[in-house]
Amino acid sequence: MSYQNILVETKGRVGIIRLNRPQALNALNQALMAELTQAVQAFDADDAVGCMLLTGSEKAFAAGADIKEMADKSFIDAYGGNFAADWHGIAQARKPVVAAVAGFALGGGCEIAMQCDIIIAADTAKFGQPEIKLGVIPGIGGTQRLTRAVGKAKAMDLVLTGRNMDAAEAERAGLVARVVPAASLMDEAMKVAETIAGMSLPSVLAGKESVNAAFESSLAEGVRFERRIFHSLFATEDQKEGMKAFVEKRKPDWKNK
Ligand code: HXC
Repeated sequence: MSYQNILVETKGRVGIIRLNRPQALNALNQALMAELTQAVQAFDADDAVGCMLLTGSEKAFAAGADIKEMADKSFIDAYGGNFAADWHGIAQARKPVVAAVAGFALGGGCEIAMQCDIIIAADTAKFGQPEIKLGVIPGIGGTQRLTRAVGKAKAMDLVLTGRNMDAAEAERAGLVARVVPAASLMDEAMKVAETIAGMSLPSVLAGKESVNAAFESSLAEGVRFERRIFHSLFATEDQKEGMKAFVEKRKPDWKNK
């Protein structure tokens, strides 16, 4: 598959997608988002891939939706055409997606980082939802995912003032899992992705699905959902292998990667 706006490769069992519109700081246009969704779906369906990694450039993960492409849209273009309704491809992936973020992750850039499952940030990363300064609001889940990640106080602060958070503030707020020096961002993010890709896939899928259930259900429903999936994993060869390997003091040899 040849793409114009992203670069795609696999390293071991990690599927890597790099946003690649350097002239526009990886601004997200329709063409890039269609390619991103396609690439995520292809890795999700690929048995040789256990985890994905999404990244941008040193200067920008992505500076938001492409303002030049959006500027002239009318209400009917946006509403009638259901603008950006299909920009949720990452959130629909079953396999985990690690975001490696350096530089600007603004607007739609912050929103696609939040569609990923784990954000590893370089110390140069800047996160924000500046849409308010353009006369709009976030449109691909920003008001919802940011609020769930950092709580109402900081989400309101960011969404209503449009200010950016640096990596340290984003980590304190709970938006990012780890902050690392910019020079080691890809190494550190790859280590996380490789670790996940080296686990038994059914338990990885189950862990992701169960954590995500916390955002969609009451505590009692979520705990029940988790227990049912936990029970079901006892039907896998890998549960037998994982626990046997522990007892035998050796590394597990997963059957379902
Ligand atoms: C289109 C963009 C862009 C964007 C940057 N560029 N961001 N083009 N859409 N979102 C382009 C610039 O026009 C410029 O192109 C080139 O990239 C380099 O950007 P500069 O502004 O010259 O760089 P710098 O001075 O370093 O400033 C970086 C920046 C700034 C602070 C990130 O570019 C910026 O504020 N960008 C917009 C951020 C933003 O508002 N994002 C939210 C978008 S709305 P030229 O050709 O002029 O050199 C959104 C909605 C999401 O995301 C939901 C909708 C589905």
